[in-house]
Amino acid sequence: MSDKPIPGGNDVKVEFEDGIAWVHIDRPEKRNAMSIGLAREMNDVLDKLETDDRCGVIVLTGSGEAFSAGMDLKDFFRAMEGLSDVERHRIYRETRAWQWRTLMYYAKPTIAMVNGWCFGGAFTPLICCDLAITDEDAVFGLSEINWGVIPGGVVSKAISTLMGDREALYYVMTGKKFDGRRAKELGLVNDAVPAAKLKDETRELARELLGKNPTVLRQARMAYKYAREMNWEQASEYLTAKADQTDLVDPEKGKQQGLSQFLDQKTFKPGHGNYERAEEEG
Ligand code: COA
Repeated sequence: MSDKPIPGGNDVKVEFEDGIAWVHIDRPEKRNAMSIGLAREMNDVLDKLETDDRCGVIVLTGSGEAFSAGMDLKDFFRAMEGLSDVERHRIYRETRAWQWRTLMYYAKPTIAMVNGWCFGGAFTPLICCDLAITDEDAVFGLSEINWGVIPGGVVSKAISTLMGDREALYYVMTGKKFDGRRAKELGLVNDAVPAAKLKDETRELARELLGKNPTVLRQARMAYKYAREMNWEQASEYLTAKADQTDLVDPEKGKQQGLSQFLDQKTFKPGHGNYERAEEEG
């Protein structure tokens, strides 16, 4: 077990539990509105957790009664007024880094656990996590239209990857709220559960991911995310090469173990669960 210090501590709180890193946006008194300082801290936290042995899966959630009330209207929007174009560019880059690129292409699996209010800019980290589970009574909203801005950052792009155009535009244009059950119908989350079960259900999902071959799991996530941006010909070539590369870089040699246990030893069936994982070789 690592003796590294726990990252975060100001606007981000991290708790480790048997391979799960619970990463809390930790500004409950501001409903976890995302400020510039939070972005800088979250960039640092995610960077450190990527190589931290205590973290096999990240669960992103919020402290208190909110997942996140979106971008901080004071410490992001108001603070941007009067800044130079260069300074604004830098802040956009720092904010979008963790909310989008880092989470989307993170080396370890990510789960968003939506525990309450989820507005505006909060849709970006929600969607850029691999998986998501919500409290069925959590309240979601693309509220930007209600206060005179568009769903910017990369929110409009992010919602278009999971929601159909009719539904996305309905919520973009009306700013109406919806609950966790509706978020499940819209495809924004994998599941919507009662608040009392939210942490246990999320933990169970995280543990399931921790039981998989981590190299193959990472390669499978990346393969899906990149292939969906390609045409069929490109995806076919890329996925064939990615499968060969996965074989090459997997220290567990999972494919050989799986084939041998199914075809030779007849000790497992892939349709029913994992092969018996041996210790890493290298
Ligand atoms: N930016 C900045 N501050 C925010 C914030 C945001 N997005 N959301 C909440 N806060 C602050 C409030 O200003 C208040 O601060 P104060 O105590 O200094 O007055 C504090 O957080 C608590 O918020 P409050 O509105 O009193 O909580 P509530 O539980 O009654 O309502 C919300 C919760 C989420 C419905 C409400 O805060 C809200 O509508 N927030 C804005 C949501 C939004 O449109 N986000 C999109 C941004 S892109």
